[in-house]
Amino acid sequence: MAILAIGSPKGGVGKTTTATHIAAITTQVHGRRTLLVDTDPTRSTLDWVEEGQFSGLDFADGRDFNDLHGVREHEDRYDLIVIDFPQTSPPALHAMLGEPGAYIADALLVPSPPELMDLTPIIRMIETGLPIPYLLAITRAGTAGMKTSATGAPGRVLDLQKQLRDDYEFQVADTIIAERRTPYRSARERMTSVLNIGGPKTLAARAAESEYRNLTREAFALVGLATR
Ligand SMILES: Nc1ncnc2c1ncn2[C@@H]1O[C@H](COP(=O)(O)OP(=O)(O)OP(=O)(O)O)[C@@H](O)[C@H]1O
Ligand SMILES: [Mg+2]
Repeated sequence: MAILAIGSPKGGVGKTTTATHIAAITTQVHGRRTLLVDTDPTRSTLDWVEEGQFSGLDFADGRDFNDLHGVREHEDRYDLIVIDFPQTSPPALHAMLGEPGAYIADALLVPSPPELMDLTPIIRMIETGLPIPYLLAITRAGTAGMKTSATGAPGRVLDLQKQLRDDYEFQVADTIIAERRTPYRSARERMTSVLNIGGPKTLAARAAESEYRNLTREAFALVGLATR
């Protein structure tokens, strides 16, 4: 059993989208028992998942636990527990992760769009030191910047990914989640993930699904969960 927290000091970066899609893919594609815990006081995940179509996925309201350490009591019942954090300052995020020897999660996934404005507080947070293993995942990236040009020059997003790895020495996911408005909007409207939007799958929906499938594999490696 492994616990993965999704958190960031920035809002609207795709935390809930990432938590929901990793949880949905873990159940639906990998057939693993999965619990998604929403700790956001606005219940953004729960409103989406509780009423919607996420077959086989269990969910819980973080406020039902006196303290998030209680999540570990579910250890025997699940292969993966995904915790969606609200936007929190780095000190608050540290506090939410718990104390040495009793961290509430095994690893932290930090989604961030490839914009300096979003990355600045994240860079500071990682440089200050995170208490558990982490992985920074670039989300909501413009597709143009994800391509290498005919001359072999990397796009802006690829360049930033390399810079975060080489210059900052950060742990950065290989997978880049592109900004794809239509599939994610449809998924929210239909209270499901991009895997189950229904109807013939558009290219954008297929690409979104494939990106989150890849990120889910990376998340498994991060928390030490084997893919079968
Ligand atoms: N890759 C993407 N492409 C297009 N839209 C996206 C993508 N990821 C997220 N969104 C949209 O951006 C908005 C914010 O996403 P989300 O709720 O996942 O972010 P969040 O970090 O959880 O926000 P908050 O800080 O409010 O909890 C939502 O409308 C969501 O559908
Ligand atoms: Mg959220």
